[in-house]
Amino acid sequence: MAPRMNDLDSLVDKAKSAFGAAATPADLENAKALFLGKSGRVTELMKGMAALSVDEKKSRGAAINLAKQAIEAGLNERRQALADAELQAQLQAEAMDVTLPGRNRGQGGLHPVSLTLERIEAIFGSMGFDVAQGPEIETDWFNFTALNTPEDHPARSMHDTFYVEGGSATAPNLLRTHTSPMQIRHAVQHVKKYSKVSSNDGDKSAVSPLYSGSMPEIRVIAPGRTYRIDSDATHQPMFHQCEGLWIGENVSFKDLKFIFVDFCKKFFETDDLVLRFRPSFFPFTEPSAEIDLQFSSGPLAGRWLEVAGSGQVHPNVVRNMGLDPEKYIGFAFGMGPDRLTMLRYGVNDLRLFFDGDLRFLSQFQ
Ligand code: DAH
Repeated sequence: MAPRMNDLDSLVDKAKSAFGAAATPADLENAKALFLGKSGRVTELMKGMAALSVDEKKSRGAAINLAKQAIEAGLNERRQALADAELQAQLQAEAMDVTLPGRNRGQGGLHPVSLTLERIEAIFGSMGFDVAQGPEIETDWFNFTALNTPEDHPARSMHDTFYVEGGSATAPNLLRTHTSPMQIRHAVQHVKKYSKVSSNDGDKSAVSPLYSGSMPEIRVIAPGRTYRIDSDATHQPMFHQCEGLWIGENVSFKDLKFIFVDFCKKFFETDDLVLRFRPSFFPFTEPSAEIDLQFSSGPLAGRWLEVAGSGQVHPNVVRNMGLDPEKYIGFAFGMGPDRLTMLRYGVNDLRLFFDGDLRFLSQFQ
């Protein structure tokens, strides 16, 4: 029987080395079939016992069983080893280097002009002004006609204004050229609210007859985007304006001067400045003034810098708001937040604000 036992030993060795050579679980299953499968080597040995005597069958059977168990043990061992190796490889592949520097998240921030608009809103808000928003596509009526701007005014020309679809052939819609239309839009809503008189012809038109009852004063600013066909170092086709309007029964140029000086001091965070009201012309104000500012110290000291247009609201405009100009009077102003931003931060080219270069913009965060 001894040589037969050697056969079994060498079969176990062969099986173990075949399992050892299997590099993947699939290879291992193939190797298993060779030895333990239906027509594998162990099954063959079992079949070979048919011719043996009962005693021989007993001892031979026991020996084959031992060999089979040894082969199965070898198989399980290799299975475990392959599974361990696979786990190790996976862990390795997913390993992270905790010593690497973190990935930076790009930090966003407000655009310098937005920062200026926020400042303007906060300062005027503290002086009791509301903030109104209005459409950037405007009608001829609100942008020009209601603001007493005559038919032949240069601002209405095709090469100054972006006309868009809509409106009528003689009065097409346009991208608003200033925020002044918000004077009318806001005042009309205000007057309707407090006069309790509604107009017949649509929500946007003024009340009629003109209102001369009492109402809270209109105090509002209207910041936003405005458009003109213009492009150089100090002009862009899209720019910002902020309108101001203060209408009441007893509001004067003195009040305008007072709040505008106060605003400039707060905005530029200095008392070291003076304002000058220089006579000018706007169709919607009479009298009109350009507001110039001069710092007494700092890099811009001694220069007069134009910061806003202003004036006492023209009686025709007061009428277009639905108010009786015999009773209501007020003033308006329009300033350029882009220019205020340039002055505040000492930037000399307006285009930098709108080129989207982060090296420039991130300096304001
Ligand atoms: N809308 C004028 C412009 O764009 C600026 C302006 C001037 C606004 C005088 C006003 C004002 O409210 O009273 O040039």
